Amino acid sequence: MEHQGLLSIIVVILWVMAVCVARLTPRVSFPMGTPGRCLSRFDSSDVGNTTTLLLSDDGDTLFVGARNAVLSLDVSQEDAIVMRSKLDWSPSEKDLDECSMKGKKKTDCPNFIRVLQFLNSTHMYACGTFTFSPRCTYINSETFSLVTSPSGKPEEGRGRCPYDPYQRNSAITVDGELYTGTVADYMGNRPVISRHLSEGGHVDLKLDDTLGWLEDPTFISSNFVPSEEKIYFFFSEVGREYDFIDKFTVSRIAQVCTSDVGGQRTLQRRWTTFAKAQLLCQSDNELPYNVIQDIVTLPPPEGAPVDDTLFFGIFSSQWSVNSGQSAVCAFRLGDIKAVFAGNYKVLNRDTLRWSMRVQEKVANPGECGLHNASDNTLRFVKENFLADDSVHPVGRSLTMVSPDQRYSHVVTQRVQAANGKDFTVLFLLTESGYLHKAVLLEKGAHIIEEIQVFEQPQPVKNLLLSISKGVVFVGSSEGVVRVPASNCSYYWSCAECVLSRDPFCGWDPSVKVCTHANSIQDNVGQDVEGGNVQEACASPMPKFRFGLNKGKADSFPVGELVSVSLNEVVRLQCPEASSLAHRHWERPNSRLSPDLYLQLEDGSLHFLATPATLGHYLCLSTENGFQQNLAIYQVKQKSSPTPQAAAPGMMTTRPQSPALPPTTQAGSGGWLTPHLTGPKQTKPEPTAPARETPVTTRRTSRNFTFWVAQSGETETEAEWQGGEKLLLGQTYLKELVVVSVLLACCVSVLLTMALYSVRQRCRSRTAPQTNTPGRDSERGGPQEREALRGGQSPCSNGMRNGQMAHNGQANGVVCNGTPRGSNGHLPNTPI
Ligand SMILES: *[C@@H]1O[C@H](CO)[C@@H](O)[C@H](O)[C@H]1NC(C)=O
Ligand SMILES: *[C@@H]1O[C@H](CO)[C@@H](O)[C@H](O)[C@H]1NC(C)=O
Ligand SMILES: *[C@@H]1O[C@H](CO)[C@@H](O)[C@H](O)[C@H]1NC(C)=O
Ligand SMILES: *[C@@H]1O[C@H](CO)[C@@H](O)[C@H](O)[C@H]1NC(C)=O
Ligand SMILES: *[C@@H]1O[C@H](CO)[C@@H](O)[C@H](O)[C@H]1NC(C)=O
Repeated sequence: MEHQGLLSIIVVILWVMAVCVARLTPRVSFPMGTPGRCLSRFDSSDVGNTTTLLLSDDGDTLFVGARNAVLSLDVSQEDAIVMRSKLDWSPSEKDLDECSMKGKKKTDCPNFIRVLQFLNSTHMYACGTFTFSPRCTYINSETFSLVTSPSGKPEEGRGRCPYDPYQRNSAITVDGELYTGTVADYMGNRPVISRHLSEGGHVDLKLDDTLGWLEDPTFISSNFVPSEEKIYFFFSEVGREYDFIDKFTVSRIAQVCTSDVGGQRTLQRRWTTFAKAQLLCQSDNELPYNVIQDIVTLPPPEGAPVDDTLFFGIFSSQWSVNSGQSAVCAFRLGDIKAVFAGNYKVLNRDTLRWSMRVQEKVANPGECGLHNASDNTLRFVKENFLADDSVHPVGRSLTMVSPDQRYSHVVTQRVQAANGKDFTVLFLLTESGYLHKAVLLEKGAHIIEEIQVFEQPQPVKNLLLSISKGVVFVGSSEGVVRVPASNCSYYWSCAECVLSRDPFCGWDPSVKVCTHANSIQDNVGQDVEGGNVQEACASPMPKFRFGLNKGKADSFPVGELVSVSLNEVVRLQCPEASSLAHRHWERPNSRLSPDLYLQLEDGSLHFLATPATLGHYLCLSTENGFQQNLAIYQVKQKSSPTPQAAAPGMMTTRPQSPALPPTTQAGSGGWLTPHLTGPKQTKPEPTAPARETPVTTRRTSRNFTFWVAQSGETETEAEWQGGEKLLLGQTYLKELVVVSVLLACCVSVLLTMALYSVRQRCRSRTAPQTNTPGRDSERGGPQEREALRGGQSPCSNGMRNGQMAHNGQANGVVCNGTPRGSNGHLPNTPI
């Protein structure tokens, strides 16, 4: 028993840690192939690297820049993506040979389409890397064919498209002109922001590169803000103004005016309106997340000033302390404008050092309409291009920090909840191939769900949101995937619907389904901000509690029978409805003494079968203050010990069913017959368990075999979907040893991780930017949690299962937590 005391302490510690990290855990997880989230996918053996996405205005056609091809995909049907046509655009054999002769990898030589834009009503424009010698072409949108230029020569792609397919670039067309940010040479060290395809009074423009307007940038994206007539470019580069730190990366926003035509003598054919500023994704006294990964625009709500336009960016850190983490920051257009309208740093041309010397302001750098300005003014503008102030995030704080995920791409939309309040929803793509859907609440971000969209990490990928169709497209080398923005019908009860906090979803009390909130007439069950089930659901599911059922034991619902021999270790499993729920066990009229019972972090209950421990058990889950039943068991003594095939190996198959309240089954005893297992079983309506009626927990698509004693006499092999109990024919001692070893293992992993994190922290002291006291302690938090999280994994054994479909469809996904382990969410620590 001494062991058990120690063990329970450890379990409690682990649980406390789990609560610490639970904050930004996706509530529900859908690994690849899960029926709850049907994705339509386009992949074809003769098309690859489908990474550049462009959606038609009506949302019915998706144009894709791929390897050696541009595709036109029909995405108007809900259940399939169909290729309409494919436009081949491949280099010749000769070109390819030359490319590999130049020492490039053969697989990097094809033509990777990196620019795909609508030019006007009849034409598109595309550019590809074309054997490290980029080319562009017009595409006739109607016939979907390449247009050869009048001269017959291919369009030069330099300055429009990168040479190297792994280099990032940005491109946007405005009024038939193409604005690009990319490197413009083979070696990859001449970055430019330039304008092409200009006509009439406009001329093509580029950056003046005498003064180092850009310092080894990585271009992320660009955006046109019509009210300002400006294009904003987002990129990261070396922050030369921080010359006391070697190679400090900073994130930038740069701007040019679409009306720019260059200077007359000074800055001829060069931007006169270029200015840049630092984007700071940092909360006070914390190490900055300094490397921008992606950024998107969220237009202001209707009626709000255009200055309320927000830019949501994903940032990672250059430092190892928070590598593997991402932060999301929001920047307001009004703040950006204020920074560009403020003072500018001055570059000393001799020392190439930046200063904040106040000099006479000859002009306002970044101002549009300088084309007729004097040489003096233009010289001033040319030298003053770095804003003195940085753009700080809204509220001077981070919108969200993901402790264990690196995000690479983001799209966002504003969703009006049933109460008329607007919520911002972010779709975030993780490096490991999951799409996180997060809603921003007053208390912080809440990740509604995660959906696996590709299996292998992808070097190049893209996200595109179609608000009108309610889908997100993910383009990667594995193909194009369409993910519906929501699937409300996955939530089977009002409680689940409300607890999801999905602003897209609400409970329709008249038909008792969770459905698209804006399709419900009235009394929508929804509480995005609070997730309060009691208030949002007129009659939340009745909750069965032992205490309420006065009377003799027989009147309890039978629950699932578990037949045991005395002195055997019994393990009762409790399915998981949500990774944010806390599960606990109850018995009628008695507390579960920690001396006798071991509650593991995966929700299971272990105890030794004795006359005192026979009887009923109830597993309850509590989430956000709401409690519901997950499972009811009746543990009985076997009457005759029949030799049993119940191998310990069975324990490896965990029940996976998402929880449901116990539901009554029509008829009596039918629930125990071997072939009850119905994929057809309809979603049980939550009803109070009737007296004397067998009660089952919800079954799902999981399908495994176990042995169950039928009414105590003979044992039958019953096939269940998501059965919840297992027996072990082992002795108690053996069991205890196994459990102890397991937990000892956890503890040692924990200690290792803790030591490692301490070491990391020590190391981080030597990293740049440690001038602020107090940072170290702050930083330790997430790092430590990370370590603890890792340390838990051997014990949690697939705690993230169980959120799969509940509708009884077959499901080919391997459960047992493998998807999670393999995608790097939890280290695969061997036990
Ligand atoms: C939504 O979820 C339900 C229930 O799990 C499932 O049957 C259905 O196929 C899902 N639909 C989509 C589009 O994912
Ligand atoms: C193209 O796709 C292959 C896999 O099909 C991948 O290995 C390669 O890195 C991709 N190349 C680019 C430039 O995306
Ligand atoms: C669109 O641009 C193409 C290429 O510059 C040009 O040939 C065509 O006339 C333009 N179409 C319209 C409607 O302006
Ligand atoms: C530039 O100045 C010249 C005369 O100084 C004037 O004729 C011309 O219209 C001006 N151009 C613009 C675009 O203002
Ligand atoms: C359950 O498994 C059996 C065989 O193991 C199989 O025939 C049956 O189709 C499965 N049912 C479901 C719903 O997967």
